[in-house]
Amino acid sequence: MKISVVGCGYLGAVHAAAMAQLGHEVVGVDVDADKVEHLAAGKPPFYEPGLADVLTSAGATGRLRFSTDVADVAGAAVHFLAVGTPQSTTGLGADLSHVDAAVDGLLPHLRPGDLVAGKSTVPVGTAADLGGRVRATGALLAWNPEFLREGHAVDDTIRPDRLVYGADPAEADDVVRLLDEVYADAIAAGTPRLVTNLATAELVKTAANAFLATKISFINAMAEIAEVAGADVTQLADALGHDARIGRRFLDAGVGFGGGCLPKDIRAFTARAEELGRGESLRFLTEVDAINLRRRERVVDMAVDALGGSVFGKKVAVLGVTFKPESDDVRDSPALDVAVRLKGLGAEVVATDPQGIDNATARHPQLLYTRQTDEALRHADLVVLVTEWREYRELDPDAVGQLARGRTIIDGRNVLDRDAWRAAGWRYVGMGRP
Ligand code: UDX
Repeated sequence: MKISVVGCGYLGAVHAAAMAQLGHEVVGVDVDADKVEHLAAGKPPFYEPGLADVLTSAGATGRLRFSTDVADVAGAAVHFLAVGTPQSTTGLGADLSHVDAAVDGLLPHLRPGDLVAGKSTVPVGTAADLGGRVRATGALLAWNPEFLREGHAVDDTIRPDRLVYGADPAEADDVVRLLDEVYADAIAAGTPRLVTNLATAELVKTAANAFLATKISFINAMAEIAEVAGADVTQLADALGHDARIGRRFLDAGVGFGGGCLPKDIRAFTARAEELGRGESLRFLTEVDAINLRRRERVVDMAVDALGGSVFGKKVAVLGVTFKPESDDVRDSPALDVAVRLKGLGAEVVATDPQGIDNATARHPQLLYTRQTDEALRHADLVVLVTEWREYRELDPDAVGQLARGRTIIDGRNVLDRDAWRAAGWRYVGMGRP
């Protein structure tokens, strides 16, 4: 099938490559010439495990192209919209200017019967607003949300856990026919496929992210209680998780969630609920956000306490700057935020990360970075782990003890072996653990 993907960021680049890998003929379009050049050369412009392999192998078949010229989408039967919907600079709502621009760019190239399938996370009602413009060309409009996680994006795209097709009831049969052809492999593998109206499909994505954010903030709220009550939130989560109705996943307390999705999606969702006159329905998400942001402050307070009331002039090794491991993404990263706050309090922060330093440097050039974990740890008065990369989880407390000056480690992700660190003479400080 001939497919176009408009927008080649974390979502679109992976989608384009994965669709070509599945046998389709794909053109990915982006306004960023540098990004397009990288992708065309088989080089991911960001770190995503497995993406380079797929770009190279799909590229070698000649089925995958990238272009800055939107006219190159002509001839595709399905056009995926995969542009970003960042938080607006003027409020909590989503900035839909990229979606609007992408649709405007597509319009002259659409033929009757073509399908425009939105993948971007948008406020409910966006597809209805776009419908008139798209349908004026004789094309169809569907919303087909993507649930990929950074770090697992290729696999999540090739083997999704569910497919959601949002369509206008009058167009549903055609939409299902076209999208079933796109996702023929996943359908054959028995992937659940739900056909909904446009608003439901838009909501599935926002609701899923709101639920995940709520689950994380719930356990972080329990961590706050555990901290004053002398309980251990990791044991609490383990015990809760055995209840199949609750489940253990996304119950890891720590410095909280970040990234390009959860924080801005819950804010856009509350803003949209206000517009719809149902602000009260999602008011709890404001609390979810507040709990999440308090965890960053908590780590900073722990650092101040650990250093006797002030971090001024003290060397603090910050392990991790990305919002989670296996990603180079520092958007709304709790780890980077903690580093910046400590620096603001006068600490001599040395931050390290296996993949995120370039992006972190671009955002916060005032911090000192090193790619060498040892260098970050050398003479550190305090060690703060804020992104649970494997190499930090596996640090040897004795070896770290040889390098660092201080003997306190703050485990902002509750991933270290507390007993082993204590046995090696460290003061271990976890999140919501005695
Ligand atoms: C998320 C959704 O999971 C995905 O389905 C959607 O398509 C996009 O948004 P992603 O942003 O890649 O994906 O990250 P995710 O793995 O969900 O983690 C989000 C944040 O929550 C990270 O900062 C992570 O460290 C944090 N987290 C996750 C916790 O603090 N505790 C947990 O138990 C789980």
